Amino acid sequence: SGTEPAQRCREIKIVLLGDSGVGKSSIAQRYVTDTFRPHGESTIGASFMSKMIVNNGSPCKCQIWDTAGQEKYHSLAPMYYRGAAAAILVYDMTKKSSFEKLQKWVDELKERGPEGIVLCVAANKCDLEEGREVEVAEGAEFAQKSGADFFETSAKNDENVGRIFTTLVTNVQ
Ligand code: GTP
Ligand code: MG
Repeated sequence: SGTEPAQRCREIKIVLLGDSGVGKSSIAQRYVTDTFRPHGESTIGASFMSKMIVNNGSPCKCQIWDTAGQEKYHSLAPMYYRGAAAAILVYDMTKKSSFEKLQKWVDELKERGPEGIVLCVAANKCDLEEGREVEVAEGAEFAQKSGADFFETSAKNDENVGRIFTTLVTNVQ
């Protein structure tokens, strides 16, 4: 008849958090559309994208909520991490202050986020090695203490961006 029943598909809500300018939208855009904009606009409120991922043979729909890092939008964040299975905590490895800010996100998620949320830390802009302000070991130690996986990423050069998502999907029960 040609009317097959729709295949059951797992859906996973993933939220991106971190300071303005660290590259959250660029990571989402690289992952979903495999493109990079060198002069992208700062996100207003939040934006949403989704992508199917096939992990170990089973399909999964990643619902990606890209939040706005500007402080004036901070109060909106709980709407986006509510019900999230996973969070990507992004800092810019050429900007120490963006790294220091991540502790606040970890604390907030522990206090008010979904129980058992799976975390991953992304040290983004690793293509800018000459501007590095955060050592790999510092980032990795912070991630470990926070119970998160850790990747140095470049949305620009497409380094480790896909791995963040496959790792999260694997780690979400
Ligand atoms: P808000 O929406 O304000 O929270 O910022 P954001 O975290 O979404 O940052 P966005 O993705 O808009 O990137 C900010 C700037 O950094 C843009 O000019 C990007 O082109 C640039 N950028 C993002 N990722 C990378 C990267 O991996 N390498 C380099 N060199 N630049 C990047
Ligand atoms: Mg953005």
